[in-house]
Amino acid sequence: MSVLSGKKIVLGISGGIAAYKTATLVRLFIKAGAQVQVVMTPASKDFVTPLTLSTLSKNPVHSTFYNEEDENAVWNNHVEIGLWADLMIIAPATANTLSKMVNGNCDNLLLATYLSAKCSVYFAPAMDLDMYKHPSTIASFKALQSYGNIMIPAESGELASGLSGEGRMAEPENIIQFMEHDIAQKLPLKGKKILITAGPTYEAIDPVRFIGNHSSGKMGYDIANEAAHLGAEVVLISGPSHLKVAHNSIKVVAVVSAEEMYQACHLYFENTDVAIAAAAVADYRPKNVASQKIKKTESSFNIELEKTKDILASLGQLKKNQFLIGFALETENEIENAKLKIKKKYLDLIVLNSLQDQGAGFGTSTNKVTFIDRNNTIEPKDLKSKKEVAQDILNKVIAFYND
Ligand code: CTP
Repeated sequence: MSVLSGKKIVLGISGGIAAYKTATLVRLFIKAGAQVQVVMTPASKDFVTPLTLSTLSKNPVHSTFYNEEDENAVWNNHVEIGLWADLMIIAPATANTLSKMVNGNCDNLLLATYLSAKCSVYFAPAMDLDMYKHPSTIASFKALQSYGNIMIPAESGELASGLSGEGRMAEPENIIQFMEHDIAQKLPLKGKKILITAGPTYEAIDPVRFIGNHSSGKMGYDIANEAAHLGAEVVLISGPSHLKVAHNSIKVVAVVSAEEMYQACHLYFENTDVAIAAAAVADYRPKNVASQKIKKTESSFNIELEKTKDILASLGQLKKNQFLIGFALETENEIENAKLKIKKKYLDLIVLNSLQDQGAGFGTSTNKVTFIDRNNTIEPKDLKSKKEVAQDILNKVIAFYND
């Protein structure tokens, strides 16, 4: 999945011949899963039509502050468009538009939107080779980059003037690649390896029966998906679950029993920066697993159980620099029990679910948690979707690395 998926992108088009390529650019943004709003300078409309771009972007295209021919015209609010954007790109960016951007000139909707945008702004220059090399153009590039804007350098090749050299707007495919790479590099969990356990474990009684629990795995899968979106490389060690992951930075290791989950965790833990134990691991398993299906010959039947290994505690004992997060599902003395678990399992953070809270626990899409860290700082959270809880947990991880 592209890092542009779900992003709101404002494409500002200024008046150069390369504007005709923006039709492809819009199509590629949409294909990557982004939403696009196009803002054009009046001059750019000579090179590509607003109708083409509104059709491809599935949004109205704006080029003036209001439609002068329409008595009932509404004001095109550049502030609203600027604030809507997660990303802005000006492509093609002509020498004229670049120079105006440097000076805060604001005589068209594109420039006003640029000045209102709080997001990352990319610009893809397009001009003739001598213009591209001119000291004033180079000064514009430098000034705009010093303001935090990101330049997508022009490419070399045949130019509209018939000359050949540097100045062609980067090809739409290369613009997309440039932006994806730039965004991926800046993701807050880039370079971090995260191990996550999820789902239930099944403990065999005989070849056809097991002891299990109702965990769907949703909490752990949501953490895995969010962590991957934030740039992490994820190993998701999952007990039986019907859920699927949707990111190629997630490696799923499917296990069935607590013992298999233990072995898999120990295989990956050493190379891990963060471990998050969201699995509902069985605490006990049948001591003897029958090799054949057990027949119902007796009027009553007992199964002797033995404790499974505590996976999280075992990781806590091995831990060097790893940031370790556990879950606790409690029904009474919640805070005190959770604090004890932090000590017992050498955790940095525990995510406490209280079954006394509505909307918490198994089988729901929501969760109501309280964070407790190793310094016993208690942070109760509101009832949220599991996806939002996952984001809150990962914000704790990000804060740990940024403090
Ligand atoms: N956990 C684990 N391995 C186990 C049991 C639990 O890794 N065999 C992890 C869970 O994934 C969770 C945390 O430990 O992150 C807390 O589990 P919980 O079952 O609430 O705690 P227990 O230590 O089993 O305590 P209690 O008996 O009080 O429930």
